[in-house]
Amino acid sequence: MKPEKQTDYPIHEFIKKRWSPRAFSEKAIPTNEILSLFEAARWAASARNLQPWYFIWANKDNPEMYRELSECLDPWNESWTRTADLLLIALVNTVSGSDKKYKNETALFDLGLAIGNMTTQASSSGIYLHNMGGIKPDLIREKFQLPAEIIPVVMIAGGYLGNVEQIPADIAASEYLVQERKGQEEFVFSDFPDWSKIKY
Ligand SMILES: Cc1cc2nc3c(=O)[nH]c(=O)nc-3n(C[C@H](O)[C@H](O)[C@H](O)COP(=O)(O)O)c2cc1C
Repeated sequence: MKPEKQTDYPIHEFIKKRWSPRAFSEKAIPTNEILSLFEAARWAASARNLQPWYFIWANKDNPEMYRELSECLDPWNESWTRTADLLLIALVNTVSGSDKKYKNETALFDLGLAIGNMTTQASSSGIYLHNMGGIKPDLIREKFQLPAEIIPVVMIAGGYLGNVEQIPADIAASEYLVQERKGQEEFVFSDFPDWSKIKY
């Protein structure tokens, strides 16, 4: 299975055990657990408390909506998400004000905070989420009749961990990879960064 990540400093177990699987269990996520994911998102901080996020979701109890959502994935993502019990589209409102006049410059940031909350909530319940940027934004816009200001950002597949042997071997290979990260010295500074020496 997934090797335990080696952290340089202690972190919370819910952050430590998080990773992005592609093999999910057939076990359904109870509806109350799904609603707790959105509740965790709901309580995220956001600029001016605008809460610019929206989520459209389906699980396998709702096969028609699940199919509608899976059609919005690019073909590669669609191929491996078939075992996921939960699919969702995360969207943001990019403007603010009753006249929709002002661009909300931090809307994406706020959505990220909300999904961060959701991810940690999921981890606390043994649920794993996999973000996907590989989506069909135009199809989502058309299918869900999005107002111009609302943009789809990512889709997320979720569920309990499954049997890696049940997914194609080329996809399964990544399930065993060690999670790698830059060292803190590459992105955390307590003096003036020398950008000529930094890989970015
Ligand atoms: C915004 C975003 C978009 C991503 N898009 C995809 C995607 O389209 N398909 C995919 O298989 N994984 C996707 N990922 C998952 C990343 O590849 C994964 O998070 C990264 O490799 C780190 O692995 P880990 O989450 O297991 O630590 C995406 C992750 C993020 C945050």
